[in-house]
Amino acid sequence: RTVYVNGEYVAENDAKISVFDRGFLMADGVYEVTSVIDGKILDFEGHVLRLERSLAELGMPMPMPADDLLAIHRELVSLNAVDEGAVYLQITRGAPADRDFAFPPEGTPQTVVLFTQSKPGLAGDAAASKGIKVISIPDIRWGRRDIKTVQLLYPSMGKMMAKAAGVDDAWMVEDGMVTEGTSNNAYIVRGNTIITRHLGNEILSGITRAAVLRFAREAQMTVEERSFSIEEAQTADEAFITSATTFVMPVTEIDGVQIGSGSPGPLALRLREIYVDESR
Ligand code: PDD
Repeated sequence: RTVYVNGEYVAENDAKISVFDRGFLMADGVYEVTSVIDGKILDFEGHVLRLERSLAELGMPMPMPADDLLAIHRELVSLNAVDEGAVYLQITRGAPADRDFAFPPEGTPQTVVLFTQSKPGLAGDAAASKGIKVISIPDIRWGRRDIKTVQLLYPSMGKMMAKAAGVDDAWMVEDGMVTEGTSNNAYIVRGNTIITRHLGNEILSGITRAAVLRFAREAQMTVEERSFSIEEAQTADEAFITSATTFVMPVTEIDGVQIGSGSPGPLALRLREIYVDESR
């Protein structure tokens, strides 16, 4: 695979980052994951706007204009012949001369890394026709989950807890209400109504979420942006998640309780179909 590191396209084995990089030492960095379908980059504008916001919230500049970032995305998709998958982008505060809690002096070059991940079948129906099962876990992450930082240890542990419980993922709960999945936004369906948590510092503003809510409204579904509990979710007609790496993925079980019929719900599958069709 060819990857991009600080201005150069190199073979992944030749890519080098300093041991003093603040992304490595302090998780002082932000990232984006942008989907690729049929070699096309999805919703770049949404991702780059969120990236600019994440950087600004942490006092980091954009390392280059958005158009240049788009050109790198395209070049990597082309060099690596990605048909379905994603482009991962990470920007850190760079590598100061030594480890230090204080931010490095202004002018310290940021570290910019991009690479592709091929995932044949991403937009297909195989995984979605089965759906996923989740457990609930407490949300003990920091208070600025609206910033897409590379502090992913707890979500990573959440996935391992799910795996240990024999399921696919975990929904995180704070003050009795679901915040989001480990790396996705969480939804329930009641009748014709799609319910998902309102935006705020507690969750990431998903780019897929924005698109799916728009498609839901266009398809005459009702959208309610509010929090919900695990108990409410367990009695819902359907549940699902969204993210750049899963699109719309039905959830068929929460903490051992079957949702609706126990099969992927019709509204979730319809929204997935619309999302994939609109992306092609
Ligand atoms: N995760 N919430 C969290 C905590 C996430 O990490 C993500 C994305 C989302 C969904 O956002 P989007 O629709 O823009 O992908 C919600 C990416 C895919 C990841 O970490 O791999």
